[in-house]
Amino acid sequence: MTVHIGAKPGEIAETVLIPGDPYRARWAAETYLDDARLVTEVRGELGFTGTWRGHPVTIQGSGMGMPSLSIYANELIRDYGARTLIRVGSCGGMQAHVKVRDVILAMSASSVSTPSATILRELNYAPHADWGLLRAAADAAEAIGAPTHVGGIHSSDTFYDERGDLTEQLTRHGILGVEMEAAELYILAARHGCRALAILTVSDHLQTGEELPSDQRERSFGQMIEIALAAAFP
Ligand code: HPA
Repeated sequence: MTVHIGAKPGEIAETVLIPGDPYRARWAAETYLDDARLVTEVRGELGFTGTWRGHPVTIQGSGMGMPSLSIYANELIRDYGARTLIRVGSCGGMQAHVKVRDVILAMSASSVSTPSATILRELNYAPHADWGLLRAAADAAEAIGAPTHVGGIHSSDTFYDERGDLTEQLTRHGILGVEMEAAELYILAARHGCRALAILTVSDHLQTGEELPSDQRERSFGQMIEIALAAAFP
């Protein structure tokens, strides 16, 4: 057991899917895994382990934002031996050609800062996805016919961001969408020799103001889980 994860040694799989929302972790585990069982519920941040096509998989909620994600990713990697970490979450669309419901595979994740800035200091490290996972996810997304974009995203610390100039520069530089976790996940994976990828559904759009209706969020979330599992075990 760690400070924030109550699973016993051996109860976390090497492959971990990481939604922000613990209830989505439960839904995904019950819907996609065989023999899924709850292995941790510390602070209500649920984690489940089961199998997919015979492969052990854990689905662990991370909470929102990079400080929270950093706690779970550190403990999953350092204490439980996780090696493949795939974030499945939502993002705000930032380009006209990126539509609500589309899937974004985050090739890179820019940020103003991350928890790792405490050690990276003046280094502008470029957090990036694992190429093998990214390629396999692109193949899987194409196979199920999901409208998909591959490119850079922004990992923000501010959901209610009033800095219009930052959004404008990010959009101008081709950033596809904004979320709040991927950059730190990519940095931690790199530091520990692990594989990471963020798969995101566009749930709202910063320019058009369009939002995914809540009844459609579950379906789009399911699509991401299918892509994540297929990418982890191609
Ligand atoms: N900003 C940050 N994170 C998000 C957004 C957003 O607009 N939409 C979904 N996750």
